[in-house]
Amino acid sequence: MLQVAVTGASGRMGGVFKEHLEGMEDVQGLAVSSLPPSTTVAKTGMVERLSGLDRVCRNQTCDVIVDFSFPEATLAYAVWAAAKKVPMVIGTTGFTLVQLDQLADTLHAVPALLSPNMSLMMNLAWRMTANATAVLPNDTVDVEIVEKHHRDKRNAPSSTALKMAQIVAEKRGWSMAEALRHNARWGMIGSRPQKEIAIASVRGGTLISEHSIVFAGPGESLEITHRSQSLEPFARGSLQAARWIVKQSPGVYDMLDMLGLSEVLY
Ligand SMILES: NC(=O)c1ccc[n+]([C@@H]2O[C@H](COP(=O)([O-])OP(=O)(O)OC[C@H]3O[C@@H](n4cnc5c(N)ncnc54)[C@H](OP(=O)(O)O)[C@@H]3O)[C@@H](O)[C@H]2O)c1
Repeated sequence: MLQVAVTGASGRMGGVFKEHLEGMEDVQGLAVSSLPPSTTVAKTGMVERLSGLDRVCRNQTCDVIVDFSFPEATLAYAVWAAAKKVPMVIGTTGFTLVQLDQLADTLHAVPALLSPNMSLMMNLAWRMTANATAVLPNDTVDVEIVEKHHRDKRNAPSSTALKMAQIVAEKRGWSMAEALRHNARWGMIGSRPQKEIAIASVRGGTLISEHSIVFAGPGESLEITHRSQSLEPFARGSLQAARWIVKQSPGVYDMLDMLGLSEVLY
């Protein structure tokens, strides 16, 4: 039986992941939450959350943590995981570059998988983005990204869109700091600079998530779009990641590693 501690269990994604595990004979989800069962008032402190993780994992040994929470919370859970040598799957997004470095430092001695998008199809879309960028000329083909999410999403642009931009920037030999812009175009802005990757963020209603990358060249364009109609694909991918990460050596991996897509260009 794979025992999975689910951190951020009272959130949308943590809840869906926990539900996804229900009824499975070989996996058990153990909720770690600031929301005690009998109340609707969350204790927001990390102390309560970490003692919840301690309690859950003391009573039933935890094989792996799956985290969909909040960057500061994830960092604290990662310190716990490193100390107890428990592998971790991190789906939380919105980390700063400094926080990502801290996570990598903290988790280097345990197997950990970190991905801003756990969906198999979105990972394939990243791979296709790399392929398209490798083939299309960077002096005539412009790249724009549009991401859409529900009204409550906290961070913008989405980390999935940023990863799309990073793939393009790396393949084109551009620095993200120079090339990236958030698409707030307004007024007499003139022609678009060639060395630019713009991301437009749409927020509204109950949209789950949609990412499109547009390669616009002279006389033709190509669009790669991924749409999620529910959170289920992220839950499915996270479970696949949890089953995989417990068999890996210490180190920080992503979904592309798990899918064997890291090294494949075409
Ligand atoms: N990688 C992927 O495929 C994927 C897919 C969907 C979402 N996500 C990411 O997963 C994360 C959670 O998304 P969500 O939609 O479930 O968010 P949410 O509904 O706001 O839930 C986040 C949960 O995090 C916990 N938390 C810990 N510290 C917190 C703090 N300081 N402030 C607020 N919440 C805190 C809370 O749970 P407790 O009180 O129970 O601790 C809260 O319910 C986000 O970063 C989102 O972008 C990733």
